Amino acid sequence: MLTFEESAIPSGADRALAEQSAKHIETRRVRVEDKRIINGQADVNQLVPFKYNWAWDKYLSGCANHWMPQEVNMQRDIELWKSPNGLTDDERLIVIRNLGFFSTADSLAANNIVLGTYRHITAPECRQYLLRQAFDEAIHTHAYQYIVESLGLDEGEIFNAYHEIKSIADKDEFLMPFIETLTDVRFKTGTLENDQKLLRSLIVFACIMEGLFFYVGFVQILALGRQNKLVGASEQYQYILRDESMHCNFGIDMINSIKLENPHLWTPAFREEIAELMKKAVELEYAYAEDTMPRGVLGLNAPMFKEYLRFIANRRCQQIGIDTLFPNADNPFPWMSEIIDLKKEKNFFETRVTEYQTGGTLNWD
Ligand SMILES: [Fe+2]
Ligand SMILES: [Fe+2]
Repeated sequence: MLTFEESAIPSGADRALAEQSAKHIETRRVRVEDKRIINGQADVNQLVPFKYNWAWDKYLSGCANHWMPQEVNMQRDIELWKSPNGLTDDERLIVIRNLGFFSTADSLAANNIVLGTYRHITAPECRQYLLRQAFDEAIHTHAYQYIVESLGLDEGEIFNAYHEIKSIADKDEFLMPFIETLTDVRFKTGTLENDQKLLRSLIVFACIMEGLFFYVGFVQILALGRQNKLVGASEQYQYILRDESMHCNFGIDMINSIKLENPHLWTPAFREEIAELMKKAVELEYAYAEDTMPRGVLGLNAPMFKEYLRFIANRRCQQIGIDTLFPNADNPFPWMSEIIDLKKEKNFFETRVTEYQTGGTLNWD
């Protein structure tokens, strides 16, 4: 019979096994150089060591910008909406069509992230940001619902607009195949074709959906706010715009990192295809602008949006390294850039309902 001391000494076979398993553990430790945005082999459960600091920084900024719809006082909006002469019919149409698009768009965005994108991204820093982004999208859907409820709008009409209003349905139909690629449970990356499919869907989502399809709607509601109308809804949209510009920038950083890590995906044919998608998206968004503004309203008219959409499309192309599509397009709404560039923590939150606090204090008494 072995004594305790003897049994504690590993046999040759045991030692080999122990060494093998130590080696196994060692190889499982994440090395920065093994991390990849797509098709990575490094353990996705290990957030550190950091490689994609830009993603982590955006996660921190996203959290610092946390807000909730109930923080915004809607009383003046409610009074204005109820007052028969508070808004013109054209202004009311803008609000109804606007919410008609946005009320379901952010649920689509959330589903795309949670059921699609997240699974295919193998960088834990990016996953961490995507989790924050998914919650932002829930807050946005909440904000639209909160505006609909506050103003007493017809929920059925608003939430079904994406089936029933052609210019909105057309935008969503354009997006659906790209969302379906990512959410299809059989879809897997790892081949040239599928990696290009993933990249294409990420570009459509960040640069077209969040980066273009939201902008007519943002300008319209913010233009109302600039004229002191629906100031509560306008404030909600400012928070949403701030979040969305960060989503868009995160998406662009992720797209550019995938390009750097996988240059073979970025073929001339692929770039041409992206340029065509961008042109189609500008047409769809312009049709939506015409549909929401059959006449000039708020000092805005549909043709101004043609120029604006071309300006934004150029910017998105430039950000991901596609040739500019519409030379000389100018920004007819320079005030939008000012709003996007504001240091919101300082400016926006001065209007916060003061009794609200983001993290409730625990009371142990
Ligand atoms: Fe959103
Ligand atoms: Fe978003």
